[in-house]
Amino acid sequence: MSTTAANTDAFPDVPPLLWSEALATGDDRMDETHEEFVTQLAALRALPPEQQLEPYRALVAHTVEHFAREERWMVAVGFAVDNCHAAHHRQILDTMRAVEEHFLQGDREIIGRMAAALAEWFPMHAQTMDAGLAQHMRSVGFDSRTETLADPSRVRPATMTGCGSVHCS
Ligand SMILES: [Fe+2]
Ligand SMILES: [Fe+2]
Repeated sequence: MSTTAANTDAFPDVPPLLWSEALATGDDRMDETHEEFVTQLAALRALPPEQQLEPYRALVAHTVEHFAREERWMVAVGFAVDNCHAAHHRQILDTMRAVEEHFLQGDREIIGRMAAALAEWFPMHAQTMDAGLAQHMRSVGFDSRTETLADPSRVRPATMTGCGSVHCS
């Protein structure tokens, strides 16, 4: 049995997450990062546990930047710093960091379980909170590559605490 098959067998209920247009948010800059995330996650899941720590750390580092970039954009287009999308990011990152600690303490399966959970989580997040942010950025004329507003008067700073998603209470 190959190591890939062994890992797949360990989490048969979560199929590999592949990039597709169904994951696109409509913001090219955001989608670039998301495609990188999906690619890194798939590569991680194909590895046996003893080879997962370094690529997992790289995924955490990528996710730190990914979330920080989106949170910068949120503030630029009028969200409060502690809006619900940013809070959700914090929960995910806290969990990702805790997984590394548990792995180092001897739970060799935990990165694989977390990677499977992330493959389940990501499509919903991209299609709701991230797509909502992308739509709002478009509506106020925000350029995510230059991180500038065509007309700053269209944004009232720190006025939104929700994220435009039905998954945000
Ligand atoms: Fe995202
Ligand atoms: Fe997000």
